Amino acid sequence: MAVEEYKIITKLFGTENLQDIEVYKANGGYQALEKALKMPQDEVIQQVQDSGLSGRGGAWFSTGMKWSFMPKEPDGPSYLCVNADESEPGTFKDRQLLENNPHQLLEGVIIASYAIRASVAYIYVRGEMWEEMVQLEGCIEQAREAGYVGENILGSGFGLEVVMHPGAGAYICGEETGLMQSLEGKRAEPRVKPPFPAQRGIFARPTTVNNVQTLCYVPHIINHEADWFKNIGNSERYPGSFIFCVSGHVKKPGLFELELGKWTMRQIIEDLAGGLYNGRELKAVIPGGASTSPMTPDEIDIVMDPANFSLPGRGEYQGMFGTGGIIVMDDTTCMVDALLNLLNFFEHESCGQCTPCREGCPWTRDIVWRIEHGQGRPDDLDTLLEVADNVAGFLSPRYSTICLFGPAFSYPIHGFVNTFRSEFEAHIEQGKCPIHKDKSIKLSRLVG
Ligand SMILES: Cc1cc2nc3c(=O)[nH]c(=O)nc-3n(C[C@H](O)[C@H](O)[C@H](O)COP(=O)(O)O)c2cc1C
Repeated sequence: MAVEEYKIITKLFGTENLQDIEVYKANGGYQALEKALKMPQDEVIQQVQDSGLSGRGGAWFSTGMKWSFMPKEPDGPSYLCVNADESEPGTFKDRQLLENNPHQLLEGVIIASYAIRASVAYIYVRGEMWEEMVQLEGCIEQAREAGYVGENILGSGFGLEVVMHPGAGAYICGEETGLMQSLEGKRAEPRVKPPFPAQRGIFARPTTVNNVQTLCYVPHIINHEADWFKNIGNSERYPGSFIFCVSGHVKKPGLFELELGKWTMRQIIEDLAGGLYNGRELKAVIPGGASTSPMTPDEIDIVMDPANFSLPGRGEYQGMFGTGGIIVMDDTTCMVDALLNLLNFFEHESCGQCTPCREGCPWTRDIVWRIEHGQGRPDDLDTLLEVADNVAGFLSPRYSTICLFGPAFSYPIHGFVNTFRSEFEAHIEQGKCPIHKDKSIKLSRLVG
């Protein structure tokens, strides 16, 4: 069966002037908001919960359930935080949603804020996405003029301010508590949970943090109702569609919205992304952003359902579904160099708050650097795995850092070293990189 895209939130991509509110409305925009404002707030939450929508920011937690944790009768302001900080290497879906259909996000934001009784919605946009920020500010103003933002929206009695906030330009700003710190004007150093954001979020008030893609589904769920969404795709636990971003050594890199649980990784790479460059063979695929473990060619018939993936060391397939950032690597790739490239990124981005992450990240990066540069030692691989295991908590019930950044850099170490151990050993035994005769194509040279 040929792979078909299933376009819900990318359906209007390419529509001319869609950032103009009138064009968005002519395509059915803001009807869901009008409908939602006539529903009791808890019914909106129930619809979203019954639809089975779960967070597309990487953790896949039930969106409706998260909203239900917010106070029903708040004794002060409550907030919605939109996580548009997207910095995971290989992931570029939120940026495309912001760029191509900003009012869809805004409509989802206003409906979500109504449901959780938020009086202000902050849209925290990655600092580098300057053009998207400027466009979004214009859209917020259009929505204000149309009566969708501000006091007494469409006569409902519900009022909302929407504030676009430029991000501070660090990967850790995407971690939800780091994001809240940054919004408060502090360094993005993640907070210990509990208290969870719904109990004590920004400015010590109840807060919900949602990813851009998650919120883009909300108007469609309200328009078509929960059962419609629940029946999309073949995943029992995670209904709906998902945007996969494919990059690396493929002929047609890009973005594909597909039903969850229906298609395999092989179909995405070969049928949608056009397969590998001529004459090259697949060596490895990173399934869902930099922090997920690489898969080998014999593993890519896996059906793309988050339920088929599990944490490293804890399940049948030792990888994570993550953020849908699929990075394809062909047989010219040196896996030591590829891991070094990832660790250069993580080492640069660690906030430095927790010792295992602050010290462990450069430590492991330095070990991988010396292996790649012909100075590896016989016990290096065991040291690498031990550090990664201690940080990520593979050997204990819990990870050793405040946030998941520590595990995020440890998972690929675990995956790369265990899956491609013989290649790492060959580097150490030969005292050089056996793959890259031409040092100029080293990935690691691109960073740092
Ligand atoms: C290091 C790190 C970086 C993250 N970066 C992002 C990000 O850029 N965007 C995002 O939506 N979620 C990111 N997350 C996940 C958020 O903490 C949070 O789970 C998510 O925004 C919740 O939204 P959702 O329930 O709609 O998925 C990151 C998590 C970690 C640990």
